[in-house]
Amino acid sequence: MNVKAIFFDAYGTLFDVHSVLETCEQYFPDRGMQISEAWRQKQLEYTWLRSMMDKYEDFWKVTEDALAYALKALGLDAGKEVRSALMREYLHLNPYPEVQKALEKLNSRKLAILSNGTQAMLDLLVENARLTQVFSDVISVDELKIYKPYMGVYELGIDKLFIDKNEALFVTSNPWDAAGAKTFGFRVCWINRFNKPFDELGVHPDVVIRNLEELADKL
Ligand code: LAC
Repeated sequence: MNVKAIFFDAYGTLFDVHSVLETCEQYFPDRGMQISEAWRQKQLEYTWLRSMMDKYEDFWKVTEDALAYALKALGLDAGKEVRSALMREYLHLNPYPEVQKALEKLNSRKLAILSNGTQAMLDLLVENARLTQVFSDVISVDELKIYKPYMGVYELGIDKLFIDKNEALFVTSNPWDAAGAKTFGFRVCWINRFNKPFDELGVHPDVVIRNLEELADKL
């Protein structure tokens, strides 16, 4: 593949959203995974619904609202202090174990993040993971005020890097994001970490890997 630049989704792809588990367990023993899963699912749903309703709020607000919903739905009472502590974890999510080494193997190409996160969230996340030097660009959908898989988000990525879509590869672990990127016209690598089925959306990824270390050998 002639790949000049690689775009990475952030949450769930480079960073493990379930690294909030420990803090969730601290406040709500034995309920951590339930909270984390409900939180992530509602966060994604709110991005899709707000995009369709043209009622954009940024990813920090959407993540806060999704947490409030998840706690309420699970019958868990959490004051502002607890919710703030859980939200802070979103700025310190762990990169998946293989990410640092895998990105080093890919660094002969331009590497960029293209994510729903706000610029501040993403910059802090990348800095806290000591990955700042790795990425030429960290691109947030926030300037468009609409979320993936809106086609314009993928367009924003190639505009920012001054490249053509067929010179790039898009990498994500989220099947719906992979389908959006493929529909836009990117070549797509889907990281299927948990051996899940791909979504039935009429398109398929070009490359499927189990973890990011496999990518360098596929290029
Ligand atoms: C992102 C979320 C959708 O990083 O994973 O854009």
